[in-house]
Amino acid sequence: MKRHVRLGINIDHVATLRNARGENYPEVTEAARIVEKCGADLVTVHVREDRRHINEKDLGDILNAINIPVNLEIGANSEMIKIANEYKPKCVCFVPEKRKEITTEGGLDVVNNFDKLKKFIKSLSNDNIKIAIFIDPDKDQLIASQKLGVKTIEFHTGSYANAFIKKNNVDLELKKIIESTTFAKKIGLNCHAGHGLTFDNVGAIVSINDIIELNIGHFIIANSIFDGLENSILKMRKVISEAIK
Ligand code: PXP
Repeated sequence: MKRHVRLGINIDHVATLRNARGENYPEVTEAARIVEKCGADLVTVHVREDRRHINEKDLGDILNAINIPVNLEIGANSEMIKIANEYKPKCVCFVPEKRKEITTEGGLDVVNNFDKLKKFIKSLSNDNIKIAIFIDPDKDQLIASQKLGVKTIEFHTGSYANAFIKKNNVDLELKKIIESTTFAKKIGLNCHAGHGLTFDNVGAIVSINDIIELNIGHFIIANSIFDGLENSILKMRKVISEAIK
């Protein structure tokens, strides 16, 4: 039997579209229900400091609307920890956040933010929340993540996705993810992956045996404009399933 790779659908950009006009549509809860109906494993949302897409009300509404777990992406700061502790999603993924960035550019620098991360992660651990940290595929970051005591990391696949678009250094970027996954496994870390994944580039990532979860957002929501959310998720599932040996 083929291995199951969990698929989290990030619905942030449904809220981006809603917020562009300050209306109350498209509804994020409707998107979350479709994600659940399509058999995805998680609904992923990122509450950002500037609330440019998902806000706390959305988070609460989504948690009430579905039965599959919600994976909350947050920056490591006390405001976001407070939100995570209040809403208690099943999973939290710590991501770096710079105010001016368009999207999450690169992984967390665990090596240089070790003490800060340790403090915040400790304040969440009591609530049975599954914690992951979003890092670049890099050995030093993996060693630091393991020392931090987290069980799971998510590899930032953005450099690979960019290389794929530019048709430049794809093998090199992929090699970094493959070797980092092997090393992560060796030191006892579970591996997720996400950022910039599409129908065309997801296959090589999901072919890495020890990647157990993918989180995909922007491409799915963009593709939904032409093909609908349901078809886009089902097609991604199919592409993933066909790539798994
Ligand atoms: N995983 C994490 C931790 C992220 O921060 C993001 C972007 O919010 C994604 C996955 C999804 O990336 P994309 O929207 O490019 O598919």
